Amino acid sequence: MKAKTTARWFQGALAVGTAVICVTGFLGIAFGQPLLGVVYAGMGAVVALLTQRVAERKREQEQLRRANEALEQRVQARTAELDAANKELEAFSYSVAHDLRAPLRHMDGFIRLLRKHAWNSLDEKNQRYLGIVSDSARQMGLLIDDLLAFSRVGRAELQLRPVSLSQGVELHGANGYLITQFLSSAINDRKDDYGGSLENRARFVLEVVRAIRQRAGNDFHLQMKISATEFNDALLLTEKPGNTIADSIQVCRWLEEAGVDAIHVSSGSSFPHPRNPPGDLPMEDIVKTYDSMISSGRHAFRNFVLFRSWPMNRLFHTRGEVIEGINLPDARAIKQSLRIPVICTGGFQTASYIREALRRGDCDAVSIARSLVANKDLVKLFAAGQDRPAKPCTYCNKCLVNVAENPIGCYEESRFESREEMVRQILSVYAAGPTS
Ligand SMILES: Cc1cc2nc3c(=O)[nH]c(=O)nc-3n(C[C@H](O)[C@H](O)[C@H](O)COP(=O)(O)O)c2cc1C
Ligand code: SF4
Repeated sequence: MKAKTTARWFQGALAVGTAVICVTGFLGIAFGQPLLGVVYAGMGAVVALLTQRVAERKREQEQLRRANEALEQRVQARTAELDAANKELEAFSYSVAHDLRAPLRHMDGFIRLLRKHAWNSLDEKNQRYLGIVSDSARQMGLLIDDLLAFSRVGRAELQLRPVSLSQGVELHGANGYLITQFLSSAINDRKDDYGGSLENRARFVLEVVRAIRQRAGNDFHLQMKISATEFNDALLLTEKPGNTIADSIQVCRWLEEAGVDAIHVSSGSSFPHPRNPPGDLPMEDIVKTYDSMISSGRHAFRNFVLFRSWPMNRLFHTRGEVIEGINLPDARAIKQSLRIPVICTGGFQTASYIREALRRGDCDAVSIARSLVANKDLVKLFAAGQDRPAKPCTYCNKCLVNVAENPIGCYEESRFESREEMVRQILSVYAAGPTS
């Protein structure tokens, strides 16, 4: 409600600003100041365009919020239906298995009697027949045991066991890397079989997945990270918006068919993007390290100039309303459409929040980066019952922009007793043995 009122105020203020600028422009023209008039009229047009885009963005956000609410209700109803169906199936399998045991016991008993009392009176052929009946009865007993075990699966405790990370790989198909450059409707400008339609844009990654499966076999764990919604126009309104959640759901279905074992949900088309990682873009730190990336992309030099020049660098200072769980709505929409597990990234650092997301069935697991850089004992804290660390990650993203040139670590001074302590911890990655 408060956000809506603020948006209305903002739009009202922009409309009044536009009117004032336009009127000033026309007055400039009327009083013989054509240059001033043209400049003001131009500014008026830009502000009017901005106003329209803000209104459109707000409308889209509202539609998305309503769609999420409707989805949430459908998920709850569907989960309840599934629970009921599962219970019925369990009860049915149990009673069927139980009832089948009685005739089987009779068969077993009569076979034993025949073996004991009439075995020698049977010729070789009939002895073979009796053997087959006996083997089939034993096999049927095993099948019934399996059926009974299956009927108990729903009530069994989850068994956790270590898995070797060398037995799997994650393909990075998100955040502007090579696979995104094919998948994205905003970035891919190819005119051949690998560009244009969604099917064509997905061709590259599907060929990669099939090739890995063919070489590595079915037991090798293969998962893929994807930018579910790209919001490629988040910073520059002149850019195309890129893939939507509907596009990504279709891509994930194809990936599942091609043999991918799990999907890891991220968002944002490329770097820098306000949704990945969500939080701040720390200008002081980025101007120091971004020069090392200038050779690495078509827009890197443009970004380097933008980051250094006021007022454009203020554009990048927007921190969204949601940080923790920013990609959960997308993860939930994808999970609804697939059978394989879905992992979600984006700002997780509160145990109860993560637990709730898993309970609702938004995703099957979460992945964590910055909160573990800030508090590497985070998982132990959760296990000990703490809901959130005493000094949480502030989502300042200084670790992210420093990693281009400096060691990985937390660069947020406010989280440490002193700057010296912060530097000591960062440099501990060079110390022999475990880091402190
Ligand atoms: C120090 C650091 C380096 C990262 N490097 C990359 C990267 O090279 N490529 C990428 O796609 N994401 C990168 N990320 C983003 C993470 O993979 C993750 O998706 C993102 O930070 C959101 O998760 P979080 O909120 O738990 O940090 C990096 C994050 C951090 C903190
Ligand atoms: S520098 Fe520290 S506080 Fe800032 S985002 Fe990284 S881990 Fe979090």
